[in-house]
Amino acid sequence: SKGNHRHFMEKEIHEQPEVISHTLANYLDFAKGTVRTDATPLDFSKVDRIAASACGTAFYAGLIGKYWFERIARLPVDIDVASEFRYREMPLSKDSLALFVSQSGETADTLASLRYCKQQGLKIGTIVNVRESTMARESNTVFPTLAGPEVGVASTKAFTCQLAVLASLAVAAAKMRGTIDEQEERQLVRELSEIPRYANHALRLEEQMETISRDLSQVKHVLYLGRGTSYPLALEGALKLKEISYIHAEGYAAGELKHGPIALIDESMPVIVIAPYDHWFEKTVSNMQEVAARGGKIILITDEKGAAASTLNTMHTIVLPDMPEIIAPIIYALPIQMLAYHTAVFMGTDVDQPRNLAKSVTVE
Ligand code: M6R
Repeated sequence: SKGNHRHFMEKEIHEQPEVISHTLANYLDFAKGTVRTDATPLDFSKVDRIAASACGTAFYAGLIGKYWFERIARLPVDIDVASEFRYREMPLSKDSLALFVSQSGETADTLASLRYCKQQGLKIGTIVNVRESTMARESNTVFPTLAGPEVGVASTKAFTCQLAVLASLAVAAAKMRGTIDEQEERQLVRELSEIPRYANHALRLEEQMETISRDLSQVKHVLYLGRGTSYPLALEGALKLKEISYIHAEGYAAGELKHGPIALIDESMPVIVIAPYDHWFEKTVSNMQEVAARGGKIILITDEKGAAASTLNTMHTIVLPDMPEIIAPIIYALPIQMLAYHTAVFMGTDVDQPRNLAKSVTVE
């Protein structure tokens, strides 16, 4: 049931600190400060590449995972949407791990990609929420998300739990591949263990998200920008907004702005900039300047350091606490979900059952 929430989506947004905590506990031993090797029965030191595929929000989770695997574990990741992957006939090496991400475990294109890789003789690993699903059954290794049943068509808690698993796996892979030492492992595990606390903090920004959403519900188009791990989040923000509020939105890598989308900038299209104070920050700020110089209205999502460092006028600034870089994409997902949710509520749409969409897409 929805409890005292208006929609399942609202309930599922608020469950995140708890379900992420359950999910992390499956992969990490907080007391020892190590990854649980029993939860990762796969030798990443024998894997030379990951071929990943998924659809929609699960694809964006995988895209963030790519940044983590490559940076922390020095393991290259090829990732594509499953509807392309399945027909691409990509040359696959037997030493690659085929990795799939799916809430339902039934998505037709993702399942077809999985079967294709299996036929090619690859080991199959799947990050899946529904344990009894077809994908779970057909995989060699199942990496469960412990999000519990997700009812809202717009994925929220499944997404952040997928990210929690991907981050944990990246740390496990780094350990097995020797790209981090014991001290770095302990440090990363400690940082990941802080997600629930920061997530609770982010949820307390709900009232401000509602205020900003009132403005968003008045516009026709929204642009989301981000760099690094904030780039897939920009894509996710745009997807979430369009699927439940029916407002046109696009997500772009901030550096791509001058290659086209900058032509759209005017005072009627808000630009949501996702910019934690990380090593991409300065670059994103210069893209923000380009937006401001053209009269664009900026909604900046950043942290305390970022807010202090940026002197630009914004329409709204959402300030999260400073946090370790690895957990930022998970925490920044929350204001993004709340913005989409409240905008949709203002628009009066059917938030849990948006038009033309199904919770699980079992046809091509
Ligand atoms: O069940 P799956 O994770 O495989 O579903 C994939 C997409 O259909 C799904 O994420 C979809 O994009 C959501 N409606 C996004 O909120």
